[in-house]
Amino acid sequence: MKVVAVENYADPSFSADLIGWQKVHGRHVLPWQNTRDAYLIWLSEIMLQQTQVSAVLGYYARFLERFPTLRELAAAPVEDVMAQWSGLGYYTRARNLHKCAQRVVAEYDGVFPSDPLLLAELPGIGRSTAAAIAAFSSGRRAAIMDGNVKRVFARVFGIDTYPGEKKTEQAMWLRAEALLPEVGIESYTQGLMDLGATVCTRSSPACERCPMQPRCVAFATGRTRDLPVRKPKKATPEKQAEMLAIIDNDQVLLEQRPPTGIWGGLLSLPELEGHVAADYDEIAPPNDDALLRVVAKFGEMESCDRLSTVTHVFTHYKLHIAPYRVTLARRFPMVAESGHVWLDAAHIADAALPAPIKKLLLELLGDRRDAQQRMF
Ligand code: ADE
Repeated sequence: MKVVAVENYADPSFSADLIGWQKVHGRHVLPWQNTRDAYLIWLSEIMLQQTQVSAVLGYYARFLERFPTLRELAAAPVEDVMAQWSGLGYYTRARNLHKCAQRVVAEYDGVFPSDPLLLAELPGIGRSTAAAIAAFSSGRRAAIMDGNVKRVFARVFGIDTYPGEKKTEQAMWLRAEALLPEVGIESYTQGLMDLGATVCTRSSPACERCPMQPRCVAFATGRTRDLPVRKPKKATPEKQAEMLAIIDNDQVLLEQRPPTGIWGGLLSLPELEGHVAADYDEIAPPNDDALLRVVAKFGEMESCDRLSTVTHVFTHYKLHIAPYRVTLARRFPMVAESGHVWLDAAHIADAALPAPIKKLLLELLGDRRDAQQRMF
């Protein structure tokens, strides 16, 4: 038999402390409180899903004036529902609200089920919203888990993995289930919401008046600022471009870049098209076909050296520039309108070049310019 270790998250003192605090310091006069009417509670929970209490209050009152009952809402044209929702944002909520009202009328004769599992099958009602509706309207023991609760749990229990990650979220749900009180689910659920919204806030939490302070791992270890941990940043994508610094005496060949895309319209070094090295430290052989084809348009190659890679960091990716210094034994006449120019080394500093290319060329040709300057 496979034995799976399940941590025992139960701790009755957690809910006892929270309920005691909620009764004295929590919110008690919000318009959706002090009722067991599932319609009034459901509407509030949907409006509060991605919106703060202060923004919801006015909409909630006006919505109920226009749609005082679930049946009136279900019978209304969806356009009227959208119009009432206009300004609250996240309009999928409004479309789902209307669908949900119609389903409850059709499938439950206009009475919301009290089972959170049935509630969670209705449009716009996820597991946490279902639990809140069931707790507030029927006193059902069910766990909520929204952003506020995740923050409270991350801090109180010192959870230092990202709460948006599946494993962490699952563990948080297990904890939430294990911590549910035997009695007083309404005050407990409201207490979690109140604590997250008024005390254990994202920035500058009011730890001095938090009922969880004595048990809070983040407080004890000075990590309230660091928990919950923020979404890990995706690794920056990396690209490689092989560029040719084709040099003939004191001039370097430059190419006009297309008007759009990176470095749009600037002069830059010709690139080896479609040639992307598997590893940006790969040393391309000097007789590389692509390289020879490009050089052959401009002259007869004398030598080719691979120079050190230069990395340039853009906002969305890193570009590893693999430069090659190509010297010519003989320059061919340039085709007119080719989009290429031979630039004097002395003009590099003032030319419309991307910063890393300018730097590279100044390093590459700076010596020659100095030598030239010394001659005069
Ligand atoms: N956020 C989500 N549900 C809430 C509720 N019932 N009271 C206050 N804020 C909430």
